[in-house]
Amino acid sequence: MTEKQVVFPQGFIWGAATAAYQIEGAWNEDGRGESVWDRFAHTPGRVLYGQTGDVACDHYHRWREDVALMRDLGLQAYRFSISWPRLLPEGQGTVNQKGVDFYSRLVDALLEAGIQPFVTLFHWDLPQTLQDAGGWRNRATAEAFAEYAALAGRTLGDRVKYWCTLNEPQVVLGAGHEHAWHAPGLNDPASVPAVAHHMMLAHGWGASVLRCTAPGAEIGIALDIWPQEPASGSNADARLSQWRDCLANRRFLDVLFGRGYPVELEAYYRRLGYWPEGADDFVKAGDLQAIAVPLDFLGINHYSRSVVRDQEARDNLPVTIVAGEKTDMGWEVYPNGLYTVLTRIWREYRPRRIFITENGASYSDAPGPDGKVHDARRIAFLRHYFTAAQRALQDGVPLAGYFVWSLLDNFEWALGYTQRFGLIWVDYQTQQRILKDSALWYRQVIAENGL
Ligand code: FCB
Repeated sequence: MTEKQVVFPQGFIWGAATAAYQIEGAWNEDGRGESVWDRFAHTPGRVLYGQTGDVACDHYHRWREDVALMRDLGLQAYRFSISWPRLLPEGQGTVNQKGVDFYSRLVDALLEAGIQPFVTLFHWDLPQTLQDAGGWRNRATAEAFAEYAALAGRTLGDRVKYWCTLNEPQVVLGAGHEHAWHAPGLNDPASVPAVAHHMMLAHGWGASVLRCTAPGAEIGIALDIWPQEPASGSNADARLSQWRDCLANRRFLDVLFGRGYPVELEAYYRRLGYWPEGADDFVKAGDLQAIAVPLDFLGINHYSRSVVRDQEARDNLPVTIVAGEKTDMGWEVYPNGLYTVLTRIWREYRPRRIFITENGASYSDAPGPDGKVHDARRIAFLRHYFTAAQRALQDGVPLAGYFVWSLLDNFEWALGYTQRFGLIWVDYQTQQRILKDSALWYRQVIAENGL
């Protein structure tokens, strides 16, 4: 097949994604409240080199310029997140009108540039006030989220059609509550099942209030799906990879698609005493129905695969998986993983539509003597992943759009500014933006709707 033949269906949506804390800066301006990421990044030792999102890409002040760059690229959609504490400094109650105005102006500018806004409500920056009261360990946080979703729907729902409730709850669980790599920096495995449940409940309630406050909205959630591939053909590796798939993927997919929690997951937590019975059970009557509200689309963030090896199995078979090259993030380039994720999710869960809400690569290429950024590896990466997505489309997967992570180089969480995922280079000293070669290449892909 020649490259020219990689054509996408008419109406396929090409976009790029960002998240509030990673780009906005202005962490304490215009009435914004503190988030768990402010607190975490300001705590010594948490983020590499002590870096913070205090300024980041200064997008809060430079959003006009950034929208102009998006228009220049021909982006058809832009996925960004709202900073919850910018709208509700305490997580609930008093509304910060300046925060509402900021997103309202951004949405207007996007629409004027012909770019569809895709709004994510929670991309990890929980208001610190809610965390102080217990955060996602509390059911009340899901109630606060519903209030926040209603506010966002009331103020932006007349113009924003596409909504993601949560971004990657799995990372909030593992990195945030189990391993303390991310905010809120907890080492509390016992809290994990309740935290997961309350996030799912927030999703369900949030989606339901958006249905009322943003009529005609298309509502989904963004899950990060890493296929868990056994390292060999042994039974031990197969069993462990299935369990990992349950812990990382099925725990969300099953409950979102109306199947309840996987029985083995529930049994595991009950045995550990992390999931109480009776009146103390955090799953209340009606919760599972509330979570399983029909989704208009499923958002999939996809980067790589995990290779699963059962190190404890005595008579395991030799490893047969050969890992490919890695990006600067240490993540393997494995485009076929995107194909297997898309076809598997379609086969097993039948979502109405799927968007790839994030995919991209970290490569550190910097401006050369000619002032340009020749990021050939990112172009090759995207070319292979786009081709894998198109193969899934040909096999009947209802893939409706693709968001490259990320529009701009930005604050990569606990890794600070060391990882550059952007289509656009950012000089963090001067805030100068330079379109990388990949951005120019992507402009062509969008214009031709294919490769
Ligand atoms: C995803 C996050 C996103 C970004 C990319 C690299 O897990 O959703 O914010 O950090 O990884």
